[in-house]
Amino acid sequence: MIDPADSRFRSVFGRAPEALVRAPGRINLIGEHVDYLDGLVMPAAIDRGIEAAAAKIEAPEVRVWTTLVGESERPHLISLNELTIRSGKDSWLNYLIGVLAMLREAGVESPGFEIALTADLPTGAGLSSSAALETVTALVVEALTGIEQDPVDRALLCQKAEHEFAGVPCGIMDQLAVGASRAGHALMIDCRDHSLKPVPIPRGIALVVADSRVKHALGDSEYRNRREDCETAAGILGVSALRDATLDQVGAKADALGDRLFRRARHAVTEIERVREFAIALENANFPAIGRIMRTGHDSIRDDFEVSCEELDFLVDAAYDFGSERGLIGARMTGGGFGGSTVNLVREDATEVFADHLSSTYLQKFGHPPSLFATHAADGARIVSLS
Ligand code: GLA
Repeated sequence: MIDPADSRFRSVFGRAPEALVRAPGRINLIGEHVDYLDGLVMPAAIDRGIEAAAAKIEAPEVRVWTTLVGESERPHLISLNELTIRSGKDSWLNYLIGVLAMLREAGVESPGFEIALTADLPTGAGLSSSAALETVTALVVEALTGIEQDPVDRALLCQKAEHEFAGVPCGIMDQLAVGASRAGHALMIDCRDHSLKPVPIPRGIALVVADSRVKHALGDSEYRNRREDCETAAGILGVSALRDATLDQVGAKADALGDRLFRRARHAVTEIERVREFAIALENANFPAIGRIMRTGHDSIRDDFEVSCEELDFLVDAAYDFGSERGLIGARMTGGGFGGSTVNLVREDATEVFADHLSSTYLQKFGHPPSLFATHAADGARIVSLS
């Protein structure tokens, strides 16, 4: 349970908040590193997230009190007259500043406000705490101004804030998953036209997140490199994005692409196809197919796209070692990679034994336990209350 932002707001700011807002984190079931290729992805929001309580003030500033980066002794200040990028230990504020700046660019002027932020979502675990922070910020301003954005427009605005203020050239998956998911469903997103299709997750499946608790420094620069590789590959294949390439085309241009770009393109094309197959497998509660697609997806992201790492590979292998007869349905790394988490689909009755298995084998190998929690597909971000 999130430590309620409402009571934190009252104790820090000495009055009642006007708005209470919540944004979840997300896992991605399949469709990794293809959102920025106009591809298809299949994430789901989870029941952990970020909560914000806020109320307007007269001064043109935002006073932020948070437990997200260690408990604030006093509120951090953002001047609405100076929405510029912060560096160093304050750089997490860029997620808020970026959203405020993008809203201004879109013609929405935020009032000054005080805000308390609490979370039960780990940061840096590949579960989109940044998208959740951007989205709560946008929703707080919407609540305080009465200006409501369409969820897709809000997601695009938050993505732009992340590009321009956090310097991460991310795709649109996280912001849409956080903003538009539906409880009990995975969200199939077409990242070209932003159409959304909720796909029910069959009963009896538990989602278990295993956070490796490692984050390798390479992540940001390699993310950029992968995008560039894919753009170069698309150029060689003569398509505007790898979404439009076929496996035959990739094969026919193998020499021109060279080994690395060939593998990048092969991942993209096969991963998008896996999303289509996964949607059907999920709709039919076809557990063996779900397991097979997740396994192949992980192998592809590890070998062809090369964004996994030893810890994530170990967790995925340990999950499959547990076996389908004991309740494993499927497992793979989730999110950007280079550390962070794996997502495991497990038969509900096997959750505890499975978690014990993963925890003890990982501890034995790496000398520290992973952080494990069971979760379920939750609703996207929303304004919880407004007075
Ligand atoms: C990060 C990015 C997303 C997406 C994933 C990989 O989470 O923010 O846009 O590219 O990596 O699938």
